[in-house]
Amino acid sequence: MRFLVVGGGSREHAIAWRLRASPLITELFIAPGNAGTVQLGQNVPIGAEDIESLLEFARANGVDITVVGPEAPLADGVADLFAEAGMRLFGPTRAAARIESSKSFAKELMTRCGVPTGSAECFDDYETAATYLALAGVRPPFVIKADGLAAGKGVVIAQSCDEAKHALRRSMVEREFGAAGETVLIEEYLEGREVSVFAFVDGGFVSSLTAACDYKRVGDGDVGPNTGGMGSFSPPPFWTPELESRVRREIMEPIAHELHELGSPFRGMLYAGLMLTGDGPKVVEFNCRLGDPEAQAVLPRLKTDLGELIAGAFEGGLETTPLEWSTAACVSVVVASGGYPGAYRTGYRIDGLESLDDEVLVFHAGTKEAQTGEGAIVTDGGRVLTVSALGETMDEARMRAYANVGRVQFDGSFYRSDIAAASDQRAASVTG
Ligand code: AMP
Ligand code: GLY
Repeated sequence: MRFLVVGGGSREHAIAWRLRASPLITELFIAPGNAGTVQLGQNVPIGAEDIESLLEFARANGVDITVVGPEAPLADGVADLFAEAGMRLFGPTRAAARIESSKSFAKELMTRCGVPTGSAECFDDYETAATYLALAGVRPPFVIKADGLAAGKGVVIAQSCDEAKHALRRSMVEREFGAAGETVLIEEYLEGREVSVFAFVDGGFVSSLTAACDYKRVGDGDVGPNTGGMGSFSPPPFWTPELESRVRREIMEPIAHELHELGSPFRGMLYAGLMLTGDGPKVVEFNCRLGDPEAQAVLPRLKTDLGELIAGAFEGGLETTPLEWSTAACVSVVVASGGYPGAYRTGYRIDGLESLDDEVLVFHAGTKEAQTGEGAIVTDGGRVLTVSALGETMDEARMRAYANVGRVQFDGSFYRSDIAAASDQRAASVTG
């Protein structure tokens, strides 16, 4: 079978790597891919958001199944476009992707089916939102969220009323996120350990779940600005069978059923961002795809053949292929360009890739082959690559990842040194 993977980050390299291992797959295309995916298949110079060109390519090249990594093309309706053309694409339709692309839609959905989440009010104009902040009983920290997709920048946790008003103004008056921020949610602040939960979903069917933790801030000890993610580990030691069955029963299944009932069944990978609060797990957000960098720690733990799993979804349904996660631990450390997430330079030669231990995985993101023709790989983005290592325990995986990550070098390269540190493997209040 011929598969096309859409996207060009480490998450998509990890998806392509799993697909390449499937005996079902005879040809693999990645659009646009990077210098890592080119070792697995053929890179296609089409951006992930150019959905019309993706369809044209898939048709012209006899692609059997397309798998989408990032959210933007899904929110734009790439699944609908392919379905109308009679082509198979694994990912939710535009209507189902609203679970990520509209926070107010996700909130209404959760309220309707009783899924635990923070209470929230939705506003379309600045004055009403600002007045709400002054009401008795509404206290900081205020969680201000742009309704639509804002490339990870749409959430502000404001410690004062002034800070909250400033965030409201930027989103609703200055339109910093365009139409995505015209509507804003003011949400209850949730306290606890954050965890990302993943399942393959097909209509009302929810596969076995797994979980991961990611690191958003740029610096050790969670300091500095937010990034696209600096590392992850999976599964968190506090992810017990009891917690898994509670999250399945209270969150994943009700949501899958509700979307199905609404006539917008979800097919693809569903990601629930949860806060494990003193009152149990509550939803912070849903995403309609795998997380990055969580995928780089989760996919190495997938025991099931990913090609077979996805192809099966178009035959008898996703439930026909039992999905198994390994109990091994995986730690993923992102190596980034100096200056990231601010301004950074690209084009630096990456050394040391060939010196990594055999069992260590490298998933490229911002990389490309140098023009020199000598096979050199140079940097081409802020997050350059992810080094992932498996182990019987989290500490073993962590030691392996860190024994290798320092061998990958380029001018200005840096990484966090505290991914999966012992203190992060615990959760203060976990209810199962
Ligand atoms: P989101 O874009 O919804 O993932 O939000 C970004 C981050 O903001 C989340 O990963 C949380 O760390 C934080 N966050 C979002 N909503 C809340 C909330 N209601 N309470 C506490 N933290 C939140
Ligand atoms: N790791 C967070 C995300 O992928 O949205």
